[in-house]
Amino acid sequence: MKAVCIYSYGGPGVLVYEDVPRPRPGSGEVLIRVYAAGINPVDWKIREGHLKEMLHHTLPLILGWDVSGVVEVLGAGVLRTRVGDEVFSHSDISRDGAYAEFVVIREAEVALKPKSIDHVHAAALPLAGLTAWQSLFDAAKLAAGQRVLIHAAAGGVGTLAVQLAKQKGAHVVGTSSARNHDFLRQLGVDQVVDYQTARFENVVEPVDVVLDTMGGEIQDRSWKVLRRGGILVSLVTPPSAEIAARHGVRHTSVSTQPNAAQLAEIAKLVDAGKLQAIVETVLPLSEATRGHELSERGHRRGKIVLRVG
Ligand SMILES: NC(=O)c1ccc[n+]([C@@H]2O[C@H](COP(=O)([O-])OP(=O)(O)OC[C@H]3O[C@@H](n4cnc5c(N)ncnc54)[C@H](OP(=O)(O)O)[C@@H]3O)[C@@H](O)[C@H]2O)c1
Repeated sequence: MKAVCIYSYGGPGVLVYEDVPRPRPGSGEVLIRVYAAGINPVDWKIREGHLKEMLHHTLPLILGWDVSGVVEVLGAGVLRTRVGDEVFSHSDISRDGAYAEFVVIREAEVALKPKSIDHVHAAALPLAGLTAWQSLFDAAKLAAGQRVLIHAAAGGVGTLAVQLAKQKGAHVVGTSSARNHDFLRQLGVDQVVDYQTARFENVVEPVDVVLDTMGGEIQDRSWKVLRRGGILVSLVTPPSAEIAARHGVRHTSVSTQPNAAQLAEIAKLVDAGKLQAIVETVLPLSEATRGHELSERGHRRGKIVLRVG
């Protein structure tokens, strides 16, 4: 099969598009024919070697852990899934991924894809959708009527977090550059802040939840906008307990986990017309290098997806 592998860590140039053996599903696993693979920042962070001490990958490694496709072969003991099921998944990042014509995934990480959208849009949902879900609902316990500040609201995670927060009945403040303001208002953002011309801490009324997708200086400035007892949820830099205590607020980090039940809830919202996947760029699998270059620039609206086959 065709796949995009890395044999060493480094820049986008280490991605190799080549023929590799088709994998076989083991017990409790399914072989999926990949129709689309979503690109996430974690893909190029792993490519650069940032997580190598944590993940202990054996190289060569196939990148890309967001997939939409069709179940082709069942491993032993697979009970819930059938050959021919159209599925989507965010799979375990310690294993080979889905920049390939086929991928083996644990059945427990696979859910039926939303029926109302194509594979390209379904592949844009898994990691970003689960991250938004696990941050806003599991970590922050966001409730109707609360106020949430979503940094990088126009990004992969942000566009889904905005919609999930609105579904919950929250008041949503989002940061982005001016090019995305009309788009974000249409998506439901109540207050859009241009991070290039305004300091959000000067223009945002206190919020109950900050979704920190940026870390660093943006996290440092975010403490001030939290109401006492509010919570900062970071996806990137573990927040300081000491600083949180000083501001009388709570803090947590999220490391998103595969979760088929939550993916099924996300699919339900999509099919009910309550959640949309935003895809800005679609590229063929052979252009994964270009996809990484674009993603690394950090100014995407929604997602970049590789079309396979
Ligand atoms: N912990 C976890 O498990 C986990 C899971 C998923 C993601 N993450 C991390 O979360 C981060 C966001 O992921 P993503 O997929 O949403 O990334 P992304 O799609 O690449 O984010 C791009 C967005 O960032 C915005 N942006 C850039 N600089 C900004 C700034 N200074 N202020 C506000 N917005 C800014 C851009 O808006 P403009 O174009 O308008 O500039 C663009 O829309 C990444 O670092 C990713 O690795 C962590």
